[in-house]
Amino acid sequence: MSRVLIIESSARQQDSVSRQLTRDFITQWHAAHPADEITVRDLAVSPVPHLDASLLGGWMKPEEQRSEIEREALARSNLLTDELLAADVLVMAAPMYNFAIPSTLKAWLDHVLRAGITFKYTPTGPQGLLAGKRAIVLTARGGIHAGATSDHQEPYLRQVMAFIGIHEVTFIHAEGLNMSGDFHEKGLNQAKAQLASVA
Ligand SMILES: Cc1cc2nc3c(=O)[nH]c(=O)nc-3n(C[C@H](O)[C@H](O)[C@H](O)COP(=O)(O)O)c2cc1C
Repeated sequence: MSRVLIIESSARQQDSVSRQLTRDFITQWHAAHPADEITVRDLAVSPVPHLDASLLGGWMKPEEQRSEIEREALARSNLLTDELLAADVLVMAAPMYNFAIPSTLKAWLDHVLRAGITFKYTPTGPQGLLAGKRAIVLTARGGIHAGATSDHQEPYLRQVMAFIGIHEVTFIHAEGLNMSGDFHEKGLNQAKAQLASVA
């Protein structure tokens, strides 16, 4: 039995293409691995706050010196980190917003990249602690960016995943969704075909 953690970050619900891809992923994964446990964390419905002084303060201080607010902030970060640590497969659904990932997803990453928990500092540099996990990233983009300098999603997420020790990362891009003609349909169908082989 494996555990799958799905991170949703589209601000849209019904019309969201990335959510459509995660729905398809869940159906296909469940059919192929019925015993697996799938957890969905929806960052649009329940946004994670930005990092603030209480969280950063809470991280750095010993337990007995933390204020009530710092304890609450740390507990929130621990909950998110525990979810990630428990997962064997991480699925991140990421619409492209202004060439990058949604700020909700960035806020989640800011809570789970934790020194001593998901990575550690060593004399030879930082080392990721999440070896053995794999990640699948489902992007949805109005234009076409794969392999171009305008893509600030894939290179960034690859770097972040590698930093915490996740080196097996598969990207599926649904692109050209807001372009005229048959780009939307083609982009979606291509992503769905790739998804079928991953799940
Ligand atoms: C605020 C905002 C910013 C966007 N920025 C970009 C962008 O930089 N490049 C792009 O190709 N599409 C951009 N789009 C289009 C979305 O990537 C596209 O509509 C995608 O389908 C959104 O994902 P979703 O369908 O899961 O909501 C943007 C959309 C919004 C709402």
